[in-house]
Amino acid sequence: MKPVYLEAGELKLIDQTKLPTEFIVHSYTDYRKIAQAIVDMIVRGAPAIGVTAGYGVYFGALEYQNEPKDVFYDKMKEVCELLASTRPTAVNLFWAIKRMEDVMAANVDKEPAQLVAILKDEARAICAEDIQMCRDMGKHGAELIHQNDTILTHCNAGALATADYGTALGVIRAAHEAGKNISVYADETRPFLQGARLTAYELHADGIPVTLITDNMAGWMMKLGKIDGVIVGADRIAANGDVANKIGTYSVSVLAKAHGIPMYVAAPTSTIDFAMKSGDEIVIEQRDCREISHICGIQVAPDGVAMENPAFDVTPHQNVTAIITEKGVVYPPYDINIPKLKE
Ligand code: MRU
Repeated sequence: MKPVYLEAGELKLIDQTKLPTEFIVHSYTDYRKIAQAIVDMIVRGAPAIGVTAGYGVYFGALEYQNEPKDVFYDKMKEVCELLASTRPTAVNLFWAIKRMEDVMAANVDKEPAQLVAILKDEARAICAEDIQMCRDMGKHGAELIHQNDTILTHCNAGALATADYGTALGVIRAAHEAGKNISVYADETRPFLQGARLTAYELHADGIPVTLITDNMAGWMMKLGKIDGVIVGADRIAANGDVANKIGTYSVSVLAKAHGIPMYVAAPTSTIDFAMKSGDEIVIEQRDCREISHICGIQVAPDGVAMENPAFDVTPHQNVTAIITEKGVVYPPYDINIPKLKE
């Protein structure tokens, strides 16, 4: 399932705010609307927003290709700044924009119209590489899953969160495809319900046994011995192995540690912020509290009550058993082993 792709000169995005009850694909050619789609979480998930931003830069270049060169570069700066301002936590967004900027910088001798084709190729390459990285992560991660295991996952780190296949769910898919008899518990993931709406939808569609639970049931399922391992995705991993991921991941990691259950993080190296020393520096997106006060448009909290809505949390590296990347599985000490992935 591809949530973001180019077709007939338009960017197509599956509207993830409407799943699972409606399957709607929107078409875009305006980079401003692409940026808004990221803000509105029509497309979401760290790798998927990176891929979308890459295409956004291409559509910006297409719009300004007939401008004089100096105007073109000024406009492209605006395009990149707008796309970068959409969501602060997932590093893949900034990584993809930087990759597009680097391509522009390496081709300053070219006319804008020539650059457009180069940027289109680069955006396509980011998309294709993301799928390959997910497949490779799946291959490495599947080794960690045993016959008859039940895996807990939080949020949606599936095909819908990437260009296809998924990170955490890619590992689960690969184990399933390898013939392992596995099943999954999916946390519903309040407040945006990515687990209920997207993870349950994806796994169910693929015939992978999935049981949906509310977030507050995870600890009890562990206590009952029903969970053999946890696999989640990541939005940003610091050089010391601290992991920013969907709010609630930290709680799951504490529970997993208390029950002696391995906690795996699956993420491509585009999610690693090698320049960030620890998770303390990660900016946590704060979202509209209406996501808490209302569920599917129905008010569930009193008017005027105080609320907070951090969209992500940071799991300390001490709670992470291993990080599954496309280059292989990385174990502690992360401050030594993560920098080696850059080589
Ligand atoms: O707010 P979202 O839905 O964009 O958050 C997504 C997550 O936290 C995912 O777990 C993470 O991006 C990994 S996706 C492969």
